Amino acid sequence: MNIQGCRRFEGTVCVVTGAARGIGEAIAERLAMEGGKVAALDVSERRLTPTVEAMRARGLDVRGFACDVSSRPSVQAAMAAVRKAFGAPVGVLVNNAVWARFGPLEGIDEETVDRTLAVGLKGLIWTTQAVVPQMRERGGGAIVNFSSTAARHPAGSGAIVYSAMKAGVLGLTRASAVELSADRIRVNTIVPGMVGTASSKAQYDEATLAAREAAMPLGRFGDPADIAGAVAFLASDDACYVHGTELVVDGAWTVGKD
Ligand SMILES: NC(=O)c1ccc[n+]([C@@H]2O[C@H](COP(=O)([O-])OP(=O)(O)OC[C@H]3O[C@@H](n4cnc5c(N)ncnc54)[C@H](O)[C@@H]3O)[C@@H](O)[C@H]2O)c1
Repeated sequence: MNIQGCRRFEGTVCVVTGAARGIGEAIAERLAMEGGKVAALDVSERRLTPTVEAMRARGLDVRGFACDVSSRPSVQAAMAAVRKAFGAPVGVLVNNAVWARFGPLEGIDEETVDRTLAVGLKGLIWTTQAVVPQMRERGGGAIVNFSSTAARHPAGSGAIVYSAMKAGVLGLTRASAVELSADRIRVNTIVPGMVGTASSKAQYDEATLAAREAAMPLGRFGDPADIAGAVAFLASDDACYVHGTELVVDGAWTVGKD
């Protein structure tokens, strides 16, 4: 992809959660390629370290921070470390991290419900709470939260907990947008469809995966870079009047399903 000359995040401190792999990794890379100083947060230091090292080896200003977004103290410590490491307040927050387990209603256990909601909802509250003072300090900022087409259009059975969590993100975003407007902090939701990350593909056997991909209107699943480009738009000043809303990036997969 040629984004030479496109430097919308020059000097801006950008935090991306769940950045060790998949879509989060692509977002960290994209924001850094556009001049951002990127803090890559992940609960898995083992996965985060090589990801960050690979980006730094390409000259990108990316630093890794171990953080469990479900833990308020962990988030507060990470955001303080980010502020110190880059010497400037956070201007962009991308809440991408997820913990998900799929399966039928009968098999849902307490750990699945608690962990899904702790990472996917509570985590967004802690990260938002921690960055708002930093965004105020710089006169504003942008937050992008991750939902999924599964919030409104579950692709099959087994997604009750995940869909509930992702539907919660829609409400959380809207309420945050209303509350944070006075601080000039824009908050939006990105709503991806099926993206070909290792974790999403792992849910299906090869034949099912091939059939699903063939059924996509554009003949392919989304690529992490497709989502990263849309996140970069929402986080940038190009979207300065886009606030409290949802951007569906699903290659028309759910068109006509409302
Ligand atoms: N892949 C898809 O098809 C798809 C579709 C719709 C929405 N989404 C959403 O996009 C986002 C990224 O999806 P992905 O497929 O790249 O996920 P992924 O599973 O590949 O990566 C998620 C990352 O989050 C990290 N993480 C988990 N728990 C954490 C915690 N407590 N604190 C910090 N980090 C934690 C993991 O270590 C991992 O690196 C998620 O919010 C997901 O729900 C994905």
